[in-house]
Amino acid sequence: MTPDLMEAGAERQQAYTARIERLALATESGGRSAGYGRVAQAGEVDTTHGRILYLEDVSVSFDGFKAINKLSLDIAPGELRCIIGPNGAGKTTMMDIITGKTRPDEGTVFFGSTIDLLRYKESEIAQLGIGRKFQKPTVFEQLTVFENLELALKTNKGVPASMFFRLDSAQADRLAEVLHTIHLASEVGRQAGNLSHGQKQWLEIGMLLMQDPKLLLLDEPVAGMTDEETERTAELFLSLEGAHSLVVVEHDMKFIGELTTNGPNAAKKKVTVLHEGSVLAEGTLADVQANDKVVEVYLGR
Ligand SMILES: Nc1ncnc2c1ncn2[C@@H]1O[C@H](COP(=O)(O)OP(=O)(O)OP(=O)(O)O)[C@@H](O)[C@H]1O
Ligand SMILES: [Mg+2]
Repeated sequence: MTPDLMEAGAERQQAYTARIERLALATESGGRSAGYGRVAQAGEVDTTHGRILYLEDVSVSFDGFKAINKLSLDIAPGELRCIIGPNGAGKTTMMDIITGKTRPDEGTVFFGSTIDLLRYKESEIAQLGIGRKFQKPTVFEQLTVFENLELALKTNKGVPASMFFRLDSAQADRLAEVLHTIHLASEVGRQAGNLSHGQKQWLEIGMLLMQDPKLLLLDEPVAGMTDEETERTAELFLSLEGAHSLVVVEHDMKFIGELTTNGPNAAKKKVTVLHEGSVLAEGTLADVQANDKVVEVYLGR
């Protein structure tokens, strides 16, 4: 390479670095960049006891109001668990507790049978392999689909340092696989800001997948999606089941129906109904739909 080519390359690199730094700080997602900044290490989670996530008698109060009240929950490795329940039931608060955003007043929260999540900070929990999708898409609108996925792998090094990071071939393969999984292979060069709402949600899920989380927590992932996007999201989650464990909170019962009546364990798939911070009912979708208490507090409305 000639010196002037090298210089031009270095300039481009610098401009690119500056651009990404600027964007990362300027966009709404910028403040959340830490959310992608945690590459899940392939640390082993001990699931020999048949559970990837375990909550027992967890409670938390806000100003005397018990948002979570003696909540217990058990998720098996590879399971796709749907959680439903009325507004204010504590579904999001439960995710806040699992991810370390909110500390419970009492109770036990384990990842696998050996990792006591209450001993870890929010950023450490993400690194252990728990990925969380908030309701609102938080992608870097001015970067392309490719750049967003690439960034998801490397922001743990900080934005500036990450610019000198190059995808190795395994990571490039993973990126291609994720692009395909999230149905965005044909949009790879498109600016994320120009994607539809549903595509942005898929991109954010893709960013989580780049970190290969063992457990994915998805809070109202299809809110605001078109019917077609909702159906494709159900297919996407069903394709992740098994390789990942998923906890999906949704009010869209058609979507819950898709998730629970398809896939390998369709007949046995469990739905958990939360109400006033506790489990009101748990069983197959048909079980909970036939439960009078569930109809009264939620489904019958
Ligand atoms: N940080 C907080 N401070 C005070 N109250 C809170 C806090 N977080 C949650 N709450 C309260 O706890 C209760 C449970 O809220 P949460 O957001 O978990 O419900 P949800 O089941 O996710 O509801 P929705 O279906 O509407 O999203 C609500 O009454 C809420 O106002
Ligand atoms: Mg909520």
